[in-house]
Parts: sequence; C-alpha cells; structure tokens
Amino acid sequence: MNKKKKRIPLKQILNKPSIVCLTAYTAPIAAIVDKFADIVLVGDSLGPVLYGYKTTRDVDLEMMIKHAKAVVENTKKAFVVVDMPFGSYERSKNQALKNAKRIISSTGAMAVKLEGGKKISNTIKFLTENKINVMGHLGMLPQSLRGKPKVYGYKSNEKKKIFEDMTLLENSGVFSIVIECTIKKLVDDLIMRTQLPLIGIGASPKCRGQIVVTEDILGMTEFNTKFSKKYLEFLKEANKSIKRFTLDVKNKKYPNKNQCY
Ligand code: KIV
Repeated sequence: MNKKKKRIPLKQILNKPSIVCLTAYTAPIAAIVDKFADIVLVGDSLGPVLYGYKTTRDVDLEMMIKHAKAVVENTKKAFVVVDMPFGSYERSKNQALKNAKRIISSTGAMAVKLEGGKKISNTIKFLTENKINVMGHLGMLPQSLRGKPKVYGYKSNEKKKIFEDMTLLENSGVFSIVIECTIKKLVDDLIMRTQLPLIGIGASPKCRGQIVVTEDILGMTEFNTKFSKKYLEFLKEANKSIKRFTLDVKNKKYPNKNQCY
C-alpha cells in the first residue's frame, strides 16, 4: 500500500528552510498531520500520552509496530519515522539491526529514531551501513530519565558531551537529530557546528525544524511546560461536549425522532 503513495523524498525535506515534524500514533491524527508535516514521528511518547504510562520505558516493540502500521497506512505524503523503544537496540548492533529491519518491513515506515550519543553511535553506524535511515536524539533523553525531566545544558560537562555526541552521530550517518529540552544558547552553538538539520523540541527557534507531540498542542493532554503552546483546548471542549450529551440522555433528548430508524 505504502509503495504506491508519493512520499516527499527525504533529500527534499532536509533541504527545506523550515522542517515541520509532528507525532502521530493513531489513524485519525495521522491523516490530519499528513496534510501539514514533512516528517511524522511515531514516538514512544505514545506510552504516556495514549496508555497513561509513567515513562516511555514501558513501551515495547509490538506496540510501536501496531501504531506505526496505522500511521503509515493513514498517511500519503509525509516521511514516517518510528522510535525504537527502550530495550530494543541497546544490547548489541545485531539486536538493533534485527529490530530496525522488523519495524521498517512490517510497517512500511521510512526511518527509525534512537536516543543517545556515544553509547550507541557504533550501533547507529551499523544501521546506516545496512541502509536503515536513522534520526538521532540528544539533549534530554526520556528513555534514560531517572526521576523528573531536567533541562539539558546547565551542567559544565554537558556542553562538551553534547558536542562530542553530535559529532559522533553525524559521523555515524544520521540524517538529522532531535534536540530535546536543551538551553537555547547551547543549541544555537550546536547549529553553528553541524551541517545536519537539528529538529528542536524545547530547544531554539533557530533549529531547522520543530517537533511537538500533536496531542499536546491540541490540548488533549495535561502536559504543561515552558515550551508548551496549546492551539486547541481539546480537553476543555471535550468535557463540555460530553456534559451536553449526558444531559441529552438524561432528558430523553437523544436520540431524537430523526436519529431513530
Ligand atoms: O517520543 C516522542 O514523541 C519524541 C518526540 C517528543 C521528539 O521522541
């Protein structure tokens, strides 16, 4: 099915001055974001957002594959990237390759994303040498979180580390890197030092692209942090609508005559 669709070529996306990236986990959201996004990420944020998990570490490969299939089937043009979940790539290069190939072949997605720098740069190189498109992810790394999320870049060692990690990822052949929750000055320095398009989330407006969790900007979650911006208050509107439905049922107003067979 995917093969017949005319997807935006990756090269064309990477040359754009502004790259729009949105997450999608489900068929209806995929169909909406496909109209606007260059890249659609099936993020492992689906654990907390859809399933109410505390962290993304509880998400497994089967869940990612199911949701990625729905997203690929319900998009026509966007380039679809799938997060490799925690536990699916850290053990060895071969484990990562086997699972990346499985994600791509069973969903029709075009690329995978892995979190981390030095620790996994050889694995990423192995994937790209085996013709897997890989997106990197640096800065705050949700899969490695112990406790509350912390903004990346305030500690003195973090600056050196992220520069090293970015260079390693660049040399490993990633096509782009997501930079999450990192102080703006550091992100702006990173941008100056790389040819790769950096995709920010809580990073800097100077990043070539921005990514957000679609449910967050639609107000479908209660996620609220410095970089949050709600373009719709879905939860508030949904509450009002469900309340109206409830009243209609109680007052025998739904279904009305015209809504009955
Ligand atoms: O899982 C996810 O949705 C992500 C983005 C927030 C970058 O990794």
